[in-house]
Amino acid sequence: MKVISLGGSLIWKRGAIRTAYIKEFHNIVREYSRKDKICVVVGGGEIARKYVQVGRKLGLDEFLLDYLGIMATRINASLFISEDSYPTVPFSVEEAVRALATHNLVFMGGTEPGHTTDAVALMVAERTKCKEVINLSNVDGIYDKDPRKHRDVKLIEKISYDKALKMALESYAGASTNFVMDPLAIKIAARSKIVIKILNGNDLENFKKALEGKKFYGTTIR
Ligand code: UTP
Repeated sequence: MKVISLGGSLIWKRGAIRTAYIKEFHNIVREYSRKDKICVVVGGGEIARKYVQVGRKLGLDEFLLDYLGIMATRINASLFISEDSYPTVPFSVEEAVRALATHNLVFMGGTEPGHTTDAVALMVAERTKCKEVINLSNVDGIYDKDPRKHRDVKLIEKISYDKALKMALESYAGASTNFVMDPLAIKIAARSKIVIKILNGNDLENFKKALEGKKFYGTTIR
């Protein structure tokens, strides 16, 4: 069993849906699902951010803003549904667990306000005793310094839960910073000893390596 957190930035780019990417990604996970179960939790990306920006201007509260984000993740996840997958997008971790009991391939988005799809991926993994989550976004992994502020950054290949959590919390404390992993996701991984592999989802060959347990380019949190 594998759980994948697929960042919304890989689905949407500059106002357009990446149809070719969706097809290619789908082929890889469908192939994998012939021999093992796989759940893909899809993020919101640009569409979520646009709705949240407008909602904020209209004065909606944070709960409703999260709700808009969740709806965006579910729309994105719906693009992956096929006759090879569970036929709908589960709305909760419980529903995802039921879906995985009968289907090898499940696509879903967010669940409740207050966290991101990274945390949902870790909750599904925890609930299904899956020991590995692959996080795909448009960055290569965790760097030793914020890559938007520094040029001389180095990719960290291996990092402990404690150090990753510290970095995530420091990043969340600063305005408009965005660490690659949600702190709640790291906390769940730590308490259930779930390995998180973070890599750039644009390189699908690298993704295949990570999926098959081979050496990949990115960061491992353990
Ligand atoms: P994402 O999981 O895409 O959030 O959900 P993100 O990590 O902030 O976005 P990227 O990956 O950097 O593009 C989008 C938004 O939907 C809400 C949150 O507001 C989140 O920021 N959300 C999502 C929830 O409230 N609960 C969920 O379970 C999922």
